[in-house]
Amino acid sequence: MSENKTILSLMQPSGDASLGNYLGALKNWQKLAKEYNCIYAIADLHTLTVRQEPAEKRRRSREILALFLAMGLNERDNIVFVQSHVAAHAELAWVLNCYTYMGELNRMTQFKDKSARHADNINAGLFTYPCLMAADILLYQADLVPVGEDQRQHLEITRDIAERFNNIYGNTFTVPEAYIGKTGARVMGLQEPERKMSKSESANANNIILLNDDLNQIANKIKRAVTDSDNVVKAGPEKPGITNLLNIYCAVSGKTIEEAEMEFAGVGYGAFKGAVAEAVCEELRPVKDEYERVLKDKGYIESVIKDGAEKASRIAYRTLSKVYKKVGLLPRG
Ligand code: TRP
Repeated sequence: MSENKTILSLMQPSGDASLGNYLGALKNWQKLAKEYNCIYAIADLHTLTVRQEPAEKRRRSREILALFLAMGLNERDNIVFVQSHVAAHAELAWVLNCYTYMGELNRMTQFKDKSARHADNINAGLFTYPCLMAADILLYQADLVPVGEDQRQHLEITRDIAERFNNIYGNTFTVPEAYIGKTGARVMGLQEPERKMSKSESANANNIILLNDDLNQIANKIKRAVTDSDNVVKAGPEKPGITNLLNIYCAVSGKTIEEAEMEFAGVGYGAFKGAVAEAVCEELRPVKDEYERVLKDKGYIESVIKDGAEKASRIAYRTLSKVYKKVGLLPRG
């Protein structure tokens, strides 16, 4: 039953934790954590593909981990850890590099996008990124992987690599499937509602709601969100700003878009934004309180980091040694 299935996902600490991370992924992960065996990690190795200030990276990794803990993601049988602490990820990624074709990696839209955006740093890691992601998933024999639309292609290539390996060496890896449940909300920028609320590249601070913002700032950012001028609270492709606010409102209130549209029929944008701001603040208040409390508890965080690395390593090395044996590497004895 679902109890025995393993769900795995990683989050990159490439920017400060935002409402986009929270509603788009973490809130969903939290629900899954009650039903499945879940393995959640900080993908700090993946963030090396784009240059970042080392101290910032460390701070963000710690903060995102604190948020995982504040949301109870490590409870029961679930495991929370930091990718770079389990060396098997880098080790399996190397092997998988040798079972992945240049042509396949060349087709990855994220590689094309990122190399266009970071033309001065098109490194090999950016290119082989999907092999590391495949290693993350395959090491734990994950059955299901909740990922956003932007990671679907990487999950597909993971399946291809796993099947290829299994065909050559016999059953080694569980071939993972995308978790398609009630997926998280797609939260767009408040100032640029045509684009995802981006953690890494938002120049305008009003575009993005951060977990580190205080509640007043959060409410003000929502009140300043870009809308249109027809003063009708209705979702639609020609109204990206209002649609985004409706999506956010629905994600925190649990209401459907139709219900929300009805609720705000005849209500002006000012009052609508006020209601969205209040709903978001209500949702985030307890999360932020717990997050801030956990963040101060350094001893607790350290112990979770250590414990998570140990638990994850045990599983990961079981798979890695199977793989090493199959491909003909000498046993360590
Ligand atoms: N690449 C994913 C992202 O940027 C993060 C990630 C790394 C991941 N390894 C993973 C997600 C394994 C799911 C499973 O969002």
